[in-house]
Amino acid sequence: MTILVIDDEEANLVVLRSILTRAGYRNVHTLNDPVGAVERFREVRPDLVVTDFHMPVMDGLEVLRALRPLMPGYLPVLMLTADERPDLRERALASGVRDFLTKPVRGAEVLLRIHNLLEARSFHLRLQNENDRLELLVRERTLELERAHVETLARLALVAEYRDDQAGRHVWRVARGAELVAARLGVDPAWRALLVRAARLHDVGKIAVPDGILLKPGRLTPQELAVVRTHPAVGHRLLTGGDAPLLRLAASVALTHHERWDGGGYPAGLAGEAIPLEGRIVAAVDAFDVMTYHRSHQAARPPAAAMAELEAQAGTQFDPQVVVAVREAFDDGELPVVVPED
Ligand SMILES: [Fe+2]
Repeated sequence: MTILVIDDEEANLVVLRSILTRAGYRNVHTLNDPVGAVERFREVRPDLVVTDFHMPVMDGLEVLRALRPLMPGYLPVLMLTADERPDLRERALASGVRDFLTKPVRGAEVLLRIHNLLEARSFHLRLQNENDRLELLVRERTLELERAHVETLARLALVAEYRDDQAGRHVWRVARGAELVAARLGVDPAWRALLVRAARLHDVGKIAVPDGILLKPGRLTPQELAVVRTHPAVGHRLLTGGDAPLLRLAASVALTHHERWDGGGYPAGLAGEAIPLEGRIVAAVDAFDVMTYHRSHQAARPPAAAMAELEAQAGTQFDPQVVVAVREAFDDGELPVVVPED
């Protein structure tokens, strides 16, 4: 424990220092010019300040006022004074003084009071350390949990992705495309980062669509189409119920990525801005990407043709502003596209 003693009279400093060092205190610093208090405080970082009240230029209370900004938490101050006036003591207590010593000081009393104040300081420091440790622990655990969460969801996305598209790149392209479009729409970067992960899960509900339908070559019957169209609601059910922002966003993407701007989509038939932005973004980038690769019942289109088709459907199937953003990302060569097979 480090003690800083401030007194303008050198003789007092000598007496106090010898009392304290004889009692075993090793880090006792003294200062006879109160004007240098701030500098000295910064230098020695004391656990206790002992200061005289009557000093030239700055009195003890002025010294404390100057030191206050440097004293976070509990840092005890002991004031030395021969002045017994109650109003002075009240002012001193209000300024953060914890205890008084009346001059001339007696060794035994000095030691007892200093011992008590340092004990309080030591409790405070231990509590502070414990609080810091717990706070760090909570932060680490929360991060760990979030990481595990994201990891699990990514695995789930992989399962859905693997059945539908064995190369597994469709889901990645949709996620990256959604990120680029969101950036062009000027959304909050933190939301954008969530959207990248959420978009990967947009078709997770396809887990519940039987292979015989999902992988069927050729056109689907109306009954089969109805089964495929359950995947937004199924995905939503799988992802819903959590509190984490990522899960909530993923559930929303899964539910709304087949809604249409004109209200003719499914499952809810939402229109315009009633469709959440995440749903509008993923709807457009998903449709663009699906058009560009070969599926059993439909030939692949070159990316430029898919882009033109997207624009033809702006304002009917897709949010026009989202389509503009897709076009910009496409023209900049940033939008990931399927390399056409010869
Ligand atoms: Fe889908």
